[in-house]
Parts: sequence; structure tokens; C-alpha cells
Amino acid sequence: MRMYDLIMKKRNGEELSTEEINFFVDGYTKGEIPDYQVSALMMAIYFQKMNKRETADLTKAMVNSGEVIDLSGIEGKKVDKHSTGGVGDTTTLIVGPIVAAAGVPVAKMSGRGLGHTGGTIDKLESFEGFSVNLPIEKFIQNVNERKIAIAGQTANLAPADKKLYALRDVTATVDNMSLIASSIMSKKIASGADAIVLDVKTGSGAFMKKEDDSFELAKEMVDIGTHVGRNTVAVITDMDQPLGFAVGNALEVKEAIETLKGKGPKDLTELCLTLGSYMLVLGDKAKDVKEARKILEDIIDSGKGLEKLKELVKAQGGDPKFVDDPSLMPAPSIVESVISNEEGYVKGIKADDIGRAALVLGAGRETKESEIDLSVGIVLHKKIGDFVKKGEAIATIYANDGEKQEIATKMIFDAYEIVKEEIKAKQLIKGIV
Ligand code: URA
Ligand code: CA
Repeated sequence: MRMYDLIMKKRNGEELSTEEINFFVDGYTKGEIPDYQVSALMMAIYFQKMNKRETADLTKAMVNSGEVIDLSGIEGKKVDKHSTGGVGDTTTLIVGPIVAAAGVPVAKMSGRGLGHTGGTIDKLESFEGFSVNLPIEKFIQNVNERKIAIAGQTANLAPADKKLYALRDVTATVDNMSLIASSIMSKKIASGADAIVLDVKTGSGAFMKKEDDSFELAKEMVDIGTHVGRNTVAVITDMDQPLGFAVGNALEVKEAIETLKGKGPKDLTELCLTLGSYMLVLGDKAKDVKEARKILEDIIDSGKGLEKLKELVKAQGGDPKFVDDPSLMPAPSIVESVISNEEGYVKGIKADDIGRAALVLGAGRETKESEIDLSVGIVLHKKIGDFVKKGEAIATIYANDGEKQEIATKMIFDAYEIVKEEIKAKQLIKGIV
């Protein structure tokens, strides 16, 4: 088999066979096929697309390029959750504890963040001492004992995807439906879950800006999951503005704690209850989402969700007193309001730009090697549909550097679109696939 022939075949709009897909994934992972040939193939796929069979084959080839985690030592149906990427998305820190408190085992492998804000792993490190380096035996033991553990992803999980994603990132070939779907699903499948709940974002802050495309991506991922015998449900949700109010690591952890106390932002709470409900249904802990929602609301009301977060923090070496008193978490030297010089209704808040403003402040990583400042970030005070008066604060900036604070202030102004006519609040949940 020659890589040249595969490129030409796809370029001409033909289908690649299972053997051909295995050939290039295997060859690329081993370093036997050069970047330039794989780049050409990715661009051909970008234009000519792949059918369902090819997409499923690509997913399986990437799963098999590395380790497949064996979670069979965990009792019960393991249900994983994944978001296609948002700004200020703190759901794992809330959904994980409430779902675990309902008895569904949460065996979560999470990543660190690149760009925007940190990933779940970074956020958890706001609890002094928290460690995500759990050997697999300990990870399984923790899930069996308290239904939840969160570990860092091992380097050998779908290594083909790591290489391909990095290459796509620099060759303008990320936003192809089949490539995104197979990339995300390969990691989920290799992580060993029995069932998967996907949060597919749509809107200005998402990969898929158009709702139709987001539904198509969701369908593609659900089809892959079903094809490999993992029960998969996708919830399509709005990303035309950041989720909740807080963007930044310690700030988001505080927001998660408030949400677990039943005092969180409405949109964040609603999303967590929705995703969690599907997890309970897939995990056989509720007969339908209505029953599941009631269980989860009771868990929040009774404080069992917050208790579970404390257990998780303690089990992984963190200090649970930070949950009781979040003011002990890292705090920055500068806290400044962003004051509106306009009056009107908020029409949109570009989630990307808010994410980039948080990145400038130091809440995210410019490169893989960058250090994150856990204390900095942004808290929004106005969301879509809200009325803003002149002189009123639209946001608060948490910073450790006056120059960066000024840049971020400007970026936040630019991210907000304020108009004269009344604007309706956005519908958060767009649909289920
Ligand atoms: N996230 C992934 O993991 N892969 C993609 O291709 C896009 C988003
Ligand atoms: Ca948030």
C-alpha cells in the first residue's frame, strides 16, 4: 500500500477501505508516514468528507493506536460525560459529584486546558495538595469506594489522535465533522466507559457556529458510540455566551461550590441537571429523565453533592476545608469592575473573546509549557437579555498585573454587544440526539 494512492483516492472523492484507514493511522503513529502526506490526506478528507463507515473505522484505528483502559474492575455501569469545549465550562466539578452521589460510578480521565481557561484538572488544583496522578489500581479502588475519581489522561490514550489533532490544528483541517467526531469519540472509547453523555456546544464560542452543524456533529458521534456498543446520548447546548458567570480556575471552582449548594447561576445549574439526568438514565439509576432530575435536585438540596465533592478532594490529597471556605483559595492582587459606558440590552457576549481575555490575564495556557495563574479571571454580571445602565458594572476582573488588566478590560468591552431594542434570554438546551 502507498500513501500516495490513498491521498489521490480521497482527493478524487472515493471511499477509503478499512485496511487503508488502518494503514495510514498505524503508519503515522509509528512515524513511518511523514506529516506532509498526512496533511494532504486531511485536506482531501476536509473537502471530500468521509462516510459513516470510514468515520467509524478511523475512530477504531485511533482507539487501537494506544492503550484501552480496562475499567471492568469497577462495579456498575460507568457513564462518562464530555463537552465539545466551551468557555467557563465548570460542569464536571458539579455533575461528577451529584451523579456519584446518586450511585453512578464516575471514573473520569480529564485533560489540562490549552488556550482559554484551564481544564478540569487545572481547576481541581485550586484545592491545595490535590493530585491527579493516580495509578490505575488506586483509581479503580477510589471509584469503587466512593463512586468518583478524577485522574489525568495517560499519554498513551489514543496517541494517533494526539498526533493528528496537532497536525490538523496547524493545517486548517480541524473543523470537519468526521474528524472532530472520531477524535473526541476515540478518546472516550479508549477511556473505558460503558456509556457516554455528550454536551455538543453550538454558537459563537463553539467549533460549530451553526445549530444544524452541531446537530449533525452530535448525530455523527452518537452513531460512532452506538456502532462500538457504547450507549451514547448528545445534548446540544448554547455557547453564544460563556456558561455561568465565572471564567478562570479558582473562580470557576467557587462557582461550582455555589452551584452544589443550590445557589449557582441558572444556566449552569440547568445544564448540570440535564447532563446528569441522562447519565443517571444510562447508568440505570432512574427510569427516565424526569425521575433522574428529581433525584439530582434532592441531592443538591440535601447537601449530598457538596459532601461528595469534599470526599473527592480529600481522597486525592486535597484539603477539604477549601470547600467549606472558598475564600482560602488563591486570590489575586487586583479586583476591578468593568464599567459600561453604554445603555441597553445585552445581545451577545462573544464567548471566545471572554476566553481570550481570561487567557491574557493568565487563566489559560498560551503553550503547553505555560504556567497557569489559578487566581485570575473574569466574573460576568450581565448575560444575554439583561439590561445595562450607563455606569453599571458588566463584569469584574481578577488580575495580578495592571497592564494585563487593561488589555482584558478592552477585550471584555469588545466582547459585549449592547443594543437599544429588548432582547430575549437564550434557550440553553437546543435538543437531544
Ligand atoms: N476536540 C477534540 O478532541 N478533537 C477535535 O477534533 C476537536 C475538538
Ligand atoms: Ca462559568
